[in-house]
Amino acid sequence: VKKLLVDVDCGVDDAQAIMMALAVPDVQILGITCVHGNTATENVCRNVLRVLRVCDQMKIPVFRGASKPLLGDVLNTSLFHGHDGLGDAPDPNAPGLELLQEERAASAIIRIVNEHPGEVSIVATAPLTNLALAVRLDPTLPQKLKGLYIMGGNTDARGNTTICGEFNFTADPEAAYIVLNEYLCPTYIASWEFTCLSKLPWEFCDDWLAQDTDKARFMKKIFQHSMDVCENERISKELVSGPGFISCDSYAMAAAIDDTFIIEYDHKAVTVELTGKHTRGMMVVDHLEMLKTTHKAYILKKVDLEKFKALMMNSLK
Ligand code: BDR
Repeated sequence: VKKLLVDVDCGVDDAQAIMMALAVPDVQILGITCVHGNTATENVCRNVLRVLRVCDQMKIPVFRGASKPLLGDVLNTSLFHGHDGLGDAPDPNAPGLELLQEERAASAIIRIVNEHPGEVSIVATAPLTNLALAVRLDPTLPQKLKGLYIMGGNTDARGNTTICGEFNFTADPEAAYIVLNEYLCPTYIASWEFTCLSKLPWEFCDDWLAQDTDKARFMKKIFQHSMDVCENERISKELVSGPGFISCDSYAMAAAIDDTFIIEYDHKAVTVELTGKHTRGMMVVDHLEMLKTTHKAYILKKVDLEKFKALMMNSLK
């Protein structure tokens, strides 16, 4: 059984990643920690509960985490995921926040990893604030992790939030810096550029959403807003090189779920730019091995898209 902790800012693709993992029998989600990002942390918590409810998995503990980055203000991105993070689709029966655990995210991460030393992988699909706080509280945490799977950063200085910055890293550059430099465990990165080059055809998306299940109906409802934005935005046309469907966070999840998913990767040291008018938050890949570190991350380059499609399809069954 693969034991996972999932750290999310539950927008639509976070929801897709969670549903992917929940549908795989030999994956056990030990907890879901919430953080600011695609929407305010309170919405993130509610969104996770909504996803768990539609999947009939309300027993999975959900923890509230940081509501702001380590420095500065929260980034506002309601454009893509809607104000509530799940496409502003009405849900009058959304579960209440009293269902959250009392314990806060960073403490829960430390406790759960210490309960299963060497066995837990973290899948982080959000700004890395919770993970940075956790390693500050317990510097030995990374050595007890099996792996860390991150959706975030960029490899080619092509941002989606600033000129050079991908959203999750730009939303808390200091946290990304701490995590990349201090989580010295096997680390896998699904960068923005990688996800753009690994998109799925919209026809697949139609088939995926056409499944006759409550999960598919839920997904169709929460995904409509982002699909409309994609239709209208440059994002779907330029960097993404033609039309296609990207579920960014699901690639990090698929890598954590299936050891044979990654076909090609770069094994390089990485860090994050903290200053710079245009480059703050940009991931820096040390191609020339000039950083004084021996720790290298696995930067995804090519994955098995047929396996990805199968995992996606299965997630709404
Ligand atoms: C990342 O930013 C968010 O909008 C998505 O959920 C994903 O985690 C892509 O840059």
